[in-house]
Amino acid sequence: MKLCVALDLPSKSENLALIQKLKSEDVWLKVGLRSFIRDGESLLREMKSINPNFKIFLDLKIHDIPNTMADAAESMVSLGVDMFNIHASSGIKAMRMVMDRVNTYANPPIVLAVTALTSFDNASFEAIYHTSIAQKAVDFAKDAHASGLHGVVCSVYESLDIKAHTASSFLTLTPGIRPFGESSNDQERVADLETAKLQKSDFIVVGRPIYHSADPLGVVKKIIENI
Ligand code: C5P
Repeated sequence: MKLCVALDLPSKSENLALIQKLKSEDVWLKVGLRSFIRDGESLLREMKSINPNFKIFLDLKIHDIPNTMADAAESMVSLGVDMFNIHASSGIKAMRMVMDRVNTYANPPIVLAVTALTSFDNASFEAIYHTSIAQKAVDFAKDAHASGLHGVVCSVYESLDIKAHTASSFLTLTPGIRPFGESSNDQERVADLETAKLQKSDFIVVGRPIYHSADPLGVVKKIIENI
């Protein structure tokens, strides 16, 4: 299991200051919409200049028509990121087209499909999809697996079931982790580190419990020790 730290801070300098503190740690760094829209490629370059071994997950959750998604995927490959994601609800045709494009490159990044956002509770999810989160997450994961993606973003509670319906090697990346029972903030389906381990999550994403802590490095070290 790998720790992926969410860089969701209000400014580039705050994100870089956080990374400086973590520069000797074996972590993945997640660049989300807020940071990438504001700071773009220069943020990625500066992150790598702090430690070239940092692995970067570009979390833009793209969702558009197939050709536009494939073009955007190609641009993300060109940025040199190690992992990015797309929405499974964009459909099999779009996911396949993205993978066809990505696989024309040597050493392509890991591509994940977003199933159900962890901020959904069951009622609000069913209002859109007319089925349960658990069922739809598995259906989306099967589509992503059949389309040649490497894994999915899902809640920790769906990880084992998704692997059972796809493959044990099919990756799960689980946000909404509160490693040691910290506040859930706006997340609905949170879980601690022990649950993530039981659920065989491959990547856990942790944001606020790290960057809102007075000692982010201490929290990261404690998570890595307990993984
Ligand atoms: O601060 P917190 O640990 O809740 O941050 C979780 C991160 O994971 C945020 O950057 C959020 O956008 C992202 N995320 C999520 N749920 C998903 C996909 C991504 O919370 N399904």
